[in-house]
Amino acid sequence: MEKLMSISHFLLFSLITLSSFPQHHHAAASSEYSRPPPRPLVFTSHSRSESDSQQVHISLVGKDHMRVSWITSNKHTESKVEYGKSPGNYEASATGEHTSYHYFFYRSGEIHHVVIGPLEPSTTYYYRCGGSGPEFSFRTPPSTFPIEFVVVGDLGQTEWTASTLSHVGAKDYDVFLLPGDLSYADTQQPLWDSFGRLVEPYASRRPWMVTEGNHEIETFPIIYPHGFKAYNSRWLMPYEQSGSKSNLYYSFEVAGAHILMLGSYADFDADSDQYKWLEADLASIDRTKTPWLIALLHAPWYNSNDAHKGEGESMRKAMEELLYKARVDAVFAGHVHAYERFTRVFDNTADPCGPVYVTIGDGGNREGLALSFEKTKPSISVYREPSFGHGRLRVFNETHAHWSWHRNNESDTFVADEVWLQSMYSSDSCNKATQRSIQRDEL
Ligand SMILES: [Fe+2]
Repeated sequence: MEKLMSISHFLLFSLITLSSFPQHHHAAASSEYSRPPPRPLVFTSHSRSESDSQQVHISLVGKDHMRVSWITSNKHTESKVEYGKSPGNYEASATGEHTSYHYFFYRSGEIHHVVIGPLEPSTTYYYRCGGSGPEFSFRTPPSTFPIEFVVVGDLGQTEWTASTLSHVGAKDYDVFLLPGDLSYADTQQPLWDSFGRLVEPYASRRPWMVTEGNHEIETFPIIYPHGFKAYNSRWLMPYEQSGSKSNLYYSFEVAGAHILMLGSYADFDADSDQYKWLEADLASIDRTKTPWLIALLHAPWYNSNDAHKGEGESMRKAMEELLYKARVDAVFAGHVHAYERFTRVFDNTADPCGPVYVTIGDGGNREGLALSFEKTKPSISVYREPSFGHGRLRVFNETHAHWSWHRNNESDTFVADEVWLQSMYSSDSCNKATQRSIQRDEL
């Protein structure tokens, strides 16, 4: 019955979407470039019992806790996670909260969120959700270097997505970072469930830290004016722990890195909550504890692709100086379905104390690749290519990290682009420049 309802909702929302939904921020550049045929959607159906957990994913909360999120069709399942360090032996348990939401005729299952811990670093835990059903396991990130991040934007749920995820899973890593555009449900709510089931084998094993893209908005005039209903209900991130008032932007720290998860689709002007939060968050960072400072956001500030040109410009103008003065090491964006790496940049000019900018919106979305780049490559753009793939940032110590980009049509170990990064924290000349700028501001 649930399956029939899902299919009928799917068809209904397909019709509504095709006929009347505004395609937020996304249509502007579509006539400027051509894309290869996208690969078909992978619809992942529900094969467990009504009370069993499905769509299980985990996310970091504070220094040593993990949020376990999952969905049950049955409304009466307890929001409880049992966990321990050996299979089937749950020496600890925690309870949490549950929610659900309506979107037109669709009603979500019961969405559970339970924070567990304190947990030990670099340790495998086995866990079960709701007191029954399958056992899962995850490994906590290390407390010190080295640590490896996987970065993938614009993931979607196509055969390309499955290809990207299998490449990601073929090599170990600690934390998955996603700079927006997750399910491409685009108001067709059963596709959020399908996406949750597709990514579960990965998202239940390593923390997935995400921020929003335009495909998460899902507003509808008058009825759902604020949007993000599905995203905020399903992909709850630790925003409160970083002093943010919104799930659309937050920060977290892990193993010597402070990660800013910015919101391209929340207000960002100087009088906005996000801007004030970012100022306070940057001021709170102790670089002796977290020498690496990384930012993620959806619409890129630097982009020489013909797709989505200029869409991140107003946010860049509002916030770039804050990030520059804070000596951010790297900024990862999505939105443009291609890969591009820039040199260190500030205000459109190469600057040794600016962040490295990377666009990595090539996870596997249903719309295909953004094939067309500006004919003349800007001098600040180092490498650009429209292929599906994923990136890895391996932070070795407080001074050095290695970034690599892995194309899907190669083996998982093939690196199409790579660069060593030296941390801003360890750059004497940039730190001296920071001091001079602080002294000037104080005069
Ligand atoms: Fe996007």
